[in-house]
Amino acid sequence: MKLLVSLLTAVALAAPLMSASANEEKAPAPVAAKPDLVKGEASFTAVCAACHGADGNSGIPANPKLAQQHPEYLVKQLQEFKSGKRNNAIMKGFATTLSDEDMRNIAFWTASKKAKPGFAKDKELVALGERIYRGGIADRQIAACAGCHSPNGAGIPAQYPRLGGQHADYVAAQLTTFRDGGRKNSPQMTQVAAKLNDREIKAVADYIAGLH
Ligand code: HEC
Ligand code: HEC
Repeated sequence: MKLLVSLLTAVALAAPLMSASANEEKAPAPVAAKPDLVKGEASFTAVCAACHGADGNSGIPANPKLAQQHPEYLVKQLQEFKSGKRNNAIMKGFATTLSDEDMRNIAFWTASKKAKPGFAKDKELVALGERIYRGGIADRQIAACAGCHSPNGAGIPAQYPRLGGQHADYVAAQLTTFRDGGRKNSPQMTQVAAKLNDREIKAVADYIAGLH
């Protein structure tokens, strides 16, 4: 960064000495414009891959897959782990070491990786899970998950995170902590989860694991 600033200063000082045609060239783009995927990969590999998998496809059910997740969502989570708005002791420690730029670099790199599909495991529950995901539970005013997270679980970039193929254990844990007030960083999800019972959470999490 320091080097870049001094280079830019040098260019600015030299500019009046240059020919007219050189002066017509556009100014350099703002520094924050483009995430640095090479740096993102390096940081991810050094620190995060141990828990989230080499390509962001965590193989550990309690640790979320990050591959192909929308980068804006990932940055929001990292900022909120850092500030404590999303309460998690493990991730607070790691997020605290990251600058906003590091977060963007890592998030855009993991977003560029392909998510590995998962599988539903419980044949009986999965039908209930599918009903909730696609249609909600009308008589208890539980909204259809598909309405925000899209029918195939891909989410809607920047607004609603991708869920398809995520580990069922992780999804069930998040729904439970939204419901019980442990995760308070999304009023929308607190409201959705508030009315789900344990069986429904298990069912919809299992369905989501196989969704693609
Ligand atoms: C020691 C294991 C471990 C390491 C290392 C680790 N994480 Fe995590 N990460 C977790 C766990 C566990 C969770 C789930 C937290 C929860 O339950 O809220 C998580 C959650 C996340 C989430 C939220 C994902 C979502 O879908 O909401 C992001 C983003 C994330 N980690 C990014 C990172 C990054 C970037 C690094 C490296 C700087 C990293 N993690 C290092 C264990 C780890
Ligand atoms: C009104 C829109 C809306 C509906 C309906 C909705 N969600 Fe969400 N969901 C969100 C938003 C927004 C987030 C991101 C929260 C954040 O920024 O931390 C989210 C996040 C989540 C997460 C956390 C993802 C992660 O990686 O940690 C899970 C799990 C989830 N939703 C499951 C569901 C399920 C299951 C349903 C249906 C029962 C559902 N959602 C219905 C808007 C919605």
